[in-house]
Amino acid sequence: MLRWGIIGTGDISEKLVPDLTALPDATVTAVWGRSTDRADHFARGYGIPFSTVSLDELLARVDVDVVYIATPAQTHAEIAVTALAAGKHVLIEKPIATSAQDAERVYSAARAAGRFAMEAMWMRFNPLHVEVIDRVRDGLLGEAHSVRASFGTPFQARGRVLTPAQGGSILRDRGIYPVTLAHWFLGEPTSLAASGVFEDGTDVDGHATIEYGSDFAQLAWSGIRFLDLSATISGERGWITIAPMFWAGSRARVHAGSVERIFGTPEVIEHPRQGNGYGPMLAAVTDAIGRGSLEHHWHTHADSLAITRTLDAVLSGMSRPAT
Ligand SMILES: NC(=O)c1ccc[n+]([C@@H]2O[C@H](COP(=O)([O-])OP(=O)(O)OC[C@H]3O[C@@H](n4cnc5c(N)ncnc54)[C@H](OP(=O)(O)O)[C@@H]3O)[C@@H](O)[C@H]2O)c1
Repeated sequence: MLRWGIIGTGDISEKLVPDLTALPDATVTAVWGRSTDRADHFARGYGIPFSTVSLDELLARVDVDVVYIATPAQTHAEIAVTALAAGKHVLIEKPIATSAQDAERVYSAARAAGRFAMEAMWMRFNPLHVEVIDRVRDGLLGEAHSVRASFGTPFQARGRVLTPAQGGSILRDRGIYPVTLAHWFLGEPTSLAASGVFEDGTDVDGHATIEYGSDFAQLAWSGIRFLDLSATISGERGWITIAPMFWAGSRARVHAGSVERIFGTPEVIEHPRQGNGYGPMLAAVTDAIGRGSLEHHWHTHADSLAITRTLDAVLSGMSRPAT
């Protein structure tokens, strides 16, 4: 039985904890919140026996093996490094940090402490994405050569998402999903062109073409307007489209394998979502920690660092079109 401590009592903790408590080999023993009221309320809601506003107190507990960090992005690296130094394994919400340098700090601390660390990139563990990745790697599309993915809605993008002091950035909050998808199939780009819209010093909308010689990904993200919420991977023999919302998808259409499939009726891959969708990632983390691994092979430290480097490069390379 793996014993979890929850750090942060916001929206995502509310969604993840029910999936966590549904696992047969996980239990939540403690929660940290910024205010006593919220920490107590959260603990009562999920039957968690201990709540605190002191991070040190939570990290000192012997009945906590692993912590889930679900606070604003700017705080992730510091909390993760502190938790690792206290001997805890860590699962850290995306983005792992607000720079590749800070991400490296977290993963170095994990190696030094001999503890597991992973960015909570739940999309990688979604059974739909697992099947799509496996089949593309098995040659379903021939060589994959391009990716198109976007994630934009004009709502739910205020608060911590767009507050600079909290590491707010729509690229790091939403654009991370298109960028991660491109990395799965094409790797780390060799060049890129990006542009974005900034409000009060925070990027609120952006798009990029990231390139790998003649292969490429066209990616877009926004907190101020709608952008198609699907993603497509194209290759020599056809393409796959992951239906909206692609990062949490349950259905994909495969236009490959035959003329009928390409121009007529595509094959449909379907994996209905279980619970809130975090179960597969949580089960994989539980399994990896149980085996004594310091990382999960589906979202390694190197994968996460490469993605963070791309996010850094996109953000620093963004031109700002005149409005
Ligand atoms: N995987 C996913 O599907 C998914 C979805 C959404 C978000 N996320 C990620 O999860 C993280 C949290 O997002 P959220 O939507 O849950 O945010 P949220 O609802 O704003 O909750 C954030 C939590 O962190 C606390 N907090 C705020 N400022 C803090 C500070 N300076 N230091 C320490 N704690 C602080 C908040 O406390 P108060 O309640 O006192 O303000 C709250 O408990 C983000 O990294 C986000 O990118 C992931």
